[in-house]
Amino acid sequence: MKLIARDIRKKMDGLPVLEGVSVELDEGEFVTIVGPSGCGKTTFFNVLIGLTSCDGGEIVYEGRKVENLRGLVAYMQQRDLLLPWRTLLRNVLLGPEIQGKLDDGVLSRARELLSFFRLDNFADMYPAQLSGGMKQRAALARTLMFGKELLLLDEPLSALDAITRRKLQSYLMALSERFGKSVLMITHDVEEALLLSDRIYVFSALPARVRRVIEVGMEKPRSIADKRFLELKEEILGELLEEVQNGS
Ligand SMILES: Nc1ncnc2c1ncn2[C@@H]1O[C@H](COP(=O)(O)OP(=O)(O)O)[C@@H](O)[C@H]1O
Ligand SMILES: [Mg+2]
Repeated sequence: MKLIARDIRKKMDGLPVLEGVSVELDEGEFVTIVGPSGCGKTTFFNVLIGLTSCDGGEIVYEGRKVENLRGLVAYMQQRDLLLPWRTLLRNVLLGPEIQGKLDDGVLSRARELLSFFRLDNFADMYPAQLSGGMKQRAALARTLMFGKELLLLDEPLSALDAITRRKLQSYLMALSERFGKSVLMITHDVEEALLLSDRIYVFSALPARVRRVIEVGMEKPRSIADKRFLELKEEILGELLEEVQNGS
C-alpha cells in the first residue's frame, strides 16, 4: 500500500477550501493531520474517498492514478454513529454484510475483534446501552472488519472525554502496530498526534495548505513527558495558534 495525494485543490461555493494539499502515506504508517477547525480537513478526506469531487491535483494508490479511493479504503467518519437498531455484533458485521461476505470465518473474526476491543460481553447489546468509549471501540472494530489495508479516520475520539480518549489511544496504536494497517487520521489533539504518528501534517487555516510536515521519529510507545515530545508539542500548538489568529 502506498498513497500519494498531490496538490489537491477544491473550491466550495466559489471559495477555495483546499489550496494545493499534498499528503503521503506508506505501508503500515500512521500519519495524522492536525489543523484549525473549519480549515478543510474533512473536505480533504471527502475528496480522497470520492464523496466530493476536486478541482485539481491527483491521487495515486499503489503507483496507479485513481479518481478516488472508493472501494480501497475503510472510512470512519467524524460522527460515525453505530446503527441504533443493530446489536454491537451486527454493527461490527456491517461491512462484510454490505459486501455480501458474511460467513462463519467472518463471524469468528468479528468475535476475535470484539474480544480484542474488550467488547465480548456486550456483543448482543444495543448502542444505547453502551458508554461512549465502548461505542467508539465498536466503531473501530467495524472499520477493521471492512478488510481494507488503508484506514481513514476523521477525529475518531473527539466525542470522548479526556480520560476515555487517553485510554482508547492504545487501540488506535494497535491499528498499525498489531493489525498492520496504514492509517491516515485527522485529530485536533496534538498530544494524540505525537503519541501515534510517524508523520504529522499541520494544515493552515482555511483555505487549507500544508503548513508543515513533521517526521516524528521517536520510538513507540512514547511518553508525553519526553523532551522532544514536549518541544514538538509546543511548536505545533504555537503554529496552530498562529493559524487561528491569522485565519479569523
Ligand atoms: N457542505 C458544505 N457546503 C459549503 N461549504 C462547506 C461545506 N462543508 C464545509 N464547508 C466549508 O468548508 C470549510 C472546511 O470544512 P471542513 O472540511 O469540515 O473543516 P474541518 O474538518 O477542518 O473542521 C468550512 O469552514 C466551511 O466553510
Ligand atoms: Mg472535520
